[in-house]
Amino acid sequence: MRKILLFPLMFLAALISFSGSFNRGINADDKIEKRIDSVLVKMTLDEKIGQLIQIVGMDTAKEKLIRNEQIGSVLIGLRGRAECNRIQRIAVEETRLGIPLLFANDIIHGYHTIFPVPLAEASSWNPELVKESCRISAFESASEGTRWTYAPMVDIARDPRWGRIVEGSGEDPYLGSIFAAARVEGFQGNSLDEKASIAACPKHYVAYGGAEGGRDYNTVDISERTLREIYLPPFHAALQSGAASIMSAFNDLNGIPASANHFTLTEILRNEWNWDGVVISDYNAVGELIRHRFARDMKEAALRGFKAGVDIDMVGDSIDGNPYAPNLKNLVAEGKISEEDIDNSVRNVLRMKFRLGLFDNPYTDTLYFKGNNLSKNYKDSIALKLAEESIVLLKNENNLLPISRDIKRIALIGPFADDNSNPTGPWAGGYKQENVISVLEGLKKSVNSGILIDFVKGCNVDDSDYTGFDAAIKAARKADVVIFTAGESRWMSGEAESKTDLNIPSVQQELINRIQAAGKPIIVVLMNGRPLTINRISENIPAIIEAWYLGNQTGNAIARVIFGDYNPSGKLPVTFPRSTGQIPLYYYHKSTGRPFDKEDKYTSKYTDSPNTPLYPFGYGLSYTTFSYDPIAVSKNRIKKDESTKVFVKVKNTGKYAGQEVVQLYIRDDFASVTRPVEELKGFKKINLMPGETKQAEFEITPDMLSILDLNLEPVVEPGKFTIYIGSNSVDLISTSIEIVE
Ligand code: BGC
Repeated sequence: MRKILLFPLMFLAALISFSGSFNRGINADDKIEKRIDSVLVKMTLDEKIGQLIQIVGMDTAKEKLIRNEQIGSVLIGLRGRAECNRIQRIAVEETRLGIPLLFANDIIHGYHTIFPVPLAEASSWNPELVKESCRISAFESASEGTRWTYAPMVDIARDPRWGRIVEGSGEDPYLGSIFAAARVEGFQGNSLDEKASIAACPKHYVAYGGAEGGRDYNTVDISERTLREIYLPPFHAALQSGAASIMSAFNDLNGIPASANHFTLTEILRNEWNWDGVVISDYNAVGELIRHRFARDMKEAALRGFKAGVDIDMVGDSIDGNPYAPNLKNLVAEGKISEEDIDNSVRNVLRMKFRLGLFDNPYTDTLYFKGNNLSKNYKDSIALKLAEESIVLLKNENNLLPISRDIKRIALIGPFADDNSNPTGPWAGGYKQENVISVLEGLKKSVNSGILIDFVKGCNVDDSDYTGFDAAIKAARKADVVIFTAGESRWMSGEAESKTDLNIPSVQQELINRIQAAGKPIIVVLMNGRPLTINRISENIPAIIEAWYLGNQTGNAIARVIFGDYNPSGKLPVTFPRSTGQIPLYYYHKSTGRPFDKEDKYTSKYTDSPNTPLYPFGYGLSYTTFSYDPIAVSKNRIKKDESTKVFVKVKNTGKYAGQEVVQLYIRDDFASVTRPVEELKGFKKINLMPGETKQAEFEITPDMLSILDLNLEPVVEPGKFTIYIGSNSVDLISTSIEIVE
């Protein structure tokens, strides 16, 4: 069955114009194909198989494999330019064919300049800025030899127990697609063969974020509709933006492991999407087919992974033995795999190397990177802007924030206050502590000598050492205001960091409770890589700043928000539940046959908790207030192939200049298949001075109204659609349009 998921992408293209490169990378370039032919024709089967093997790290034994043309790429780690050039020289100058190696790394949110973690960046709702951060990461990586990043992570995640939620853009397929496209555009630049461009690798294909119970690596069993509506769109967006590669996931998907799944890896990727990039397995994922009990041994694992469509076996030197390296040749000899199939995979790999310009420029060009160096000021300014825009103001009772510079004494408490490490979050490989501005440093820099900052750590992240409590309470008593940094350490989210309890570690919560009893105004600054269940804080603490992990500029961004030098504008890309019992909880839910009704027992609800989240998707406060005029519509009855426009005037009704993220949601009121109560379909981030009004305009195109019908074919069905606009997924105004036959 051939199904095309073009609608979210056309929609994307309409909304953001990413340098006109919408179709780049989808179709092979003729010249490159000819060059691939000329290399392929000279290759032996062994040399071909070599291109399909990736090793991790480097030592003399691995150098020997390279010399023997048994390796095509290396997950290199941060070894730097000279070392990459040295290893590259072995491949290029000491082998028969001189095919260059490709060096890969996980450049997730920065190489040296560490930006906010992806979930935080998604809170900025500013894809252009995120794209710029990826350009910087690409430049820094390429300048040190890495031309391939295992990013962006585009897994939709609706379960905050899953630690890897931090690596992605949250719960929504539309927002996720926007950021997937932006990141690919950023990494790959205008052209992959530019020296400062690196190949992107959207991961983990596919539905890894749907792990049952939020437990990492766990089974995923979802309908094809859910696969196509929720999990595939960000991958398709990334590939439409030209992503040169994709990574197949660890999980079992509907009974077939994702790294041996012919349906997703070949039928969808190659046949439907007509994509010609490289598929690489996740770390040892082909070998793990044995533990999935899907293959009896490495040979069968190789057969199943390869036949399904995995080109490169990551970790061809794995601890458990190798699937591809020792087995592909025999499988060809036995006629189980054709040499033509091997050629096709090798073509994909060579194509990526040609596109990166590696055959012409295999070495990192020191002079180029020196001559075009990005200034520290520029990099820091983008990192700061992104850190500021990633902050979400969750609560601000009685306008406690911003605090005035007239106050005399601040008590700064908590395990992350004087911390130059945790604020980088997971996957910040190349960070240097001396480049990370802690909250303490940021605050100190931002106040004059008239304000005393009394720092007392008070407690560690998560243990039962209460010895620091008294000093912290004493400091709080003497202060005009308390700033408490609370949350999780950088390794409490990320890979293999799933949790069943999403409360703030109890020692921190206890100290917050005790300090609260001191009666001083408290601002809690949260550092965390996932939504936490923060009911107690939310009920009792007047001001809460969600800072996630903001990277190098953490302290500067937080201080600027606290003192009002920057007015927060971030919006949650993921729902904050009240309790783990509500999970999965996301805004994009169905109505059910018995929607919630508090008067009626037999409706869909809990007996011990509201259905509603603590903080909904799209939510985030500002120091100013915005009012929305009613929505105007250019034409409210249209045919199914027509578009219409909606307009809304937004006014800054408060005292501060601010940015508002105007969000557009659509509901198909009645359809041939059940639809969610609302779906994000657009947003605009606008700047408004106090008293200023601006009009936000959205074009509603057929793609935005399109749904997948019973046969999973895109269709616009006649009938009414509700158009919602507002500042989050709950506070919305609405109008309706009608599609007529
Ligand atoms: C992760 C991938 C990562 C790879 C290489 C795996 O464990 O799942 O996201 O790219 O390791 O570091």
